[in-house]
Amino acid sequence: MISTSGIPQDLVERLGHASSIVVFTGAGVSAESGVPTFRGQDGLWQKYNAEDLATWQAFERDPRLVWSWYDYRRQIISGVDPNPGHAAIAKMAAVFDNVTVVTQNVDGLHDRAGSKNIVELHGNIWRARCTRELTVFDFRECPLSENPPLCKECGSMLRPDVVWYGEPLPMDAYERSHEVACTCDAMLVVGTSAQVRPAATLPLVAKHNGAFVVEINTHYTPISALIDTTLIGGAGEILPELLDLISACSDDSEDASGTAGGVKEHSGV
Ligand code: OAD
Repeated sequence: MISTSGIPQDLVERLGHASSIVVFTGAGVSAESGVPTFRGQDGLWQKYNAEDLATWQAFERDPRLVWSWYDYRRQIISGVDPNPGHAAIAKMAAVFDNVTVVTQNVDGLHDRAGSKNIVELHGNIWRARCTRELTVFDFRECPLSENPPLCKECGSMLRPDVVWYGEPLPMDAYERSHEVACTCDAMLVVGTSAQVRPAATLPLVAKHNGAFVVEINTHYTPISALIDTTLIGGAGEILPELLDLISACSDDSEDASGTAGGVKEHSGV
């Protein structure tokens, strides 16, 4: 059966039975807020060269240019708000026992939408890191100075606390995301082209370990054929609909079992 929104009822029921869920997100979840994605027709990497802007070598060669790239992106992000997709993800905490948001995004919009339990795989644009001592600071200045400022402790240059190409992911974030991917009942893969590793392997890790994996994207991706289902459409439309259907499905099963108002029991997926 298909719901009026086109989301199959059996998918809703399988998700509704999940206790522990991971929402794995990429740039597409912030697209409807007005934050540009990286790939695709209007993606940033169509206009700019990642090697000139998002590598350690680029920063060593021209720190001012790289700093201005982050200034440009901070100015965009500071002018936008979380969208209904972020909001629906935050509200999932009221529906599932365990929700972990694993994001490749550095924009901080999941936090602003009220999600807890967020794992940031690629860092956060609102922090800076000392290039020598690796100390991390909250760094919200916007617009940024023309040159990267110097660390107040040691005088070395600060850099954005984000992961650049060729750099490893922060160990604790990667370990946590791998652990929840291995143990979750279901994973929603939202708005990622699934092309950047190792992050892109997480849906496959989840699938391999028995999770029900559903992708939400405006287009099919390289992992579409390897997971359970892809819902094609904007995250800001599909996620609120999906959440409503799951909530209604949970309410129905509580009514049927006479447990309305009590603690919801999950059978796992
Ligand atoms: P991409 O820009 O590669 O992919 C964005 C995905 O979002 C695409 O698959 C789009 O089809 C999809 N999309 C666009 N609008 C959408 C919408 N409204 N709803 C749902 N899906 C939508 O972004 P990421 O996969 O996040 O890394 O990119 C991964 C990493 O590559 C980024 O974290 C960044 C980038 O280079 C670093 O900077 C290290």
